[in-house]
Amino acid sequence: MRNYSVAAIPADGIGPEVISAGIEVLRALEHQDPQLKFDIETFDWGSDYFKQHGVMMPEDGLQTLKKFDAIFFGAVGAPDVPDHITLWGLRLPICQGFDQYANVRPTKILPGITPPLRNCGPGDLDWVIVRENSEGEYSGNGGRAHRGLPEEVGTEVAIFTRVGVTRIMRYAFRLAQSRPRKFLTVVTKSNAQRHGMVMWDEIAAEVAQEFPDVSWDKMLVDAMTHRMTLHPQSLDTIVATNLHADILSDLAGALAGSLGVAPTANIDPEQRFPSMFEPIHGSAFDITGKGIANPIATFWTAAQMLEHLGERDAAMQIMAAIEHVCGQGILTPDVGGKATTADVTQAVVAFITSQIQLSEKAS
Ligand code: NAI
Ligand code: MG
Repeated sequence: MRNYSVAAIPADGIGPEVISAGIEVLRALEHQDPQLKFDIETFDWGSDYFKQHGVMMPEDGLQTLKKFDAIFFGAVGAPDVPDHITLWGLRLPICQGFDQYANVRPTKILPGITPPLRNCGPGDLDWVIVRENSEGEYSGNGGRAHRGLPEEVGTEVAIFTRVGVTRIMRYAFRLAQSRPRKFLTVVTKSNAQRHGMVMWDEIAAEVAQEFPDVSWDKMLVDAMTHRMTLHPQSLDTIVATNLHADILSDLAGALAGSLGVAPTANIDPEQRFPSMFEPIHGSAFDITGKGIANPIATFWTAAQMLEHLGERDAAMQIMAAIEHVCGQGILTPDVGGKATTADVTQAVVAFITSQIQLSEKAS
């Protein structure tokens, strides 16, 4: 029996809609493989919890999560709670407390989805963005003084450490090495940010020596937006700072058709702590409760979770189901279709279940 404990934190807005769809897909996989079992515990943390308790999660939240094999996360953000409270109260404490320093964001154009770029189809855009997830501009270093006075000052200090940059660079080179093109693009802004970013460039060159079979190049982040848009075929694996990669990956999601199909994994590569898997999108209040949230990003991140847990076959089954269902034109409105969250989920579950019957027939 391969038994995995999963902490589900659906949280806010469409988070609960897509996470329950994701759980249906995990159950379909379980059904298909009697040796595979997920013990899923759902936590009600998030903005509603905040309104009742004044905190986004209990004080011992990380202690509670620590014993799980993985965390399956929806989205945080509510119209009546400031975004820095929701983000710093739940998602970032988990990422930082569990040292999930590698944020991995695959993007490709799925069959059936029309991307916004002319002359760009499936195969032309197949990237993985590695976002440094523990330091940089999101380290929380900074402050405010003279509040409300004309001389008020606010600082936001980007922190880069040799340890932090070296480990993310090694992760990115290793990932690039595992992909057919063996090609990495290192993104910085070392013309204007001449301290930490120059150190990034230097460390990239040092780590590159350890990976002689991986070719690599460097881009400034502003020029990178240009290259992603005009020459998407020229990129494969990409590594960038916390802030730069945050922005570039939203662009990547848009170029692939919708934020609704973009997944992300927050990984502790040393596996000291549980890693966390989530769609990139937020709580999307504009469509909450309408039943039309695209669940594909959540299914894809479930595949990332299975891959991380060592369940490669199950991960591939989800990806095959996603590609099949999108290719059939069963699409939610954000990608030009008329299907609901439930329609897409049912189609994905049906595809996975049909594979059982095929394998039973074969045996
Ligand atoms: P958003 O990602 O929630 O929505 C942006 C646009 O994309 C909206 O028009 C939305 O309807 C659409 N969209 C997003 N996901 C979709 C899906 N699965 N299917 C169909 N359409 C989808 O970003 P926004 O509006 O800037 O932020 C809303 C809230 O979410 C804010 O409170 C923000 O702080 C929070 N947020 C949370 C994140 C997280 O939990 N990781 C990430 C991004 C935003
Ligand atoms: Mg973002």
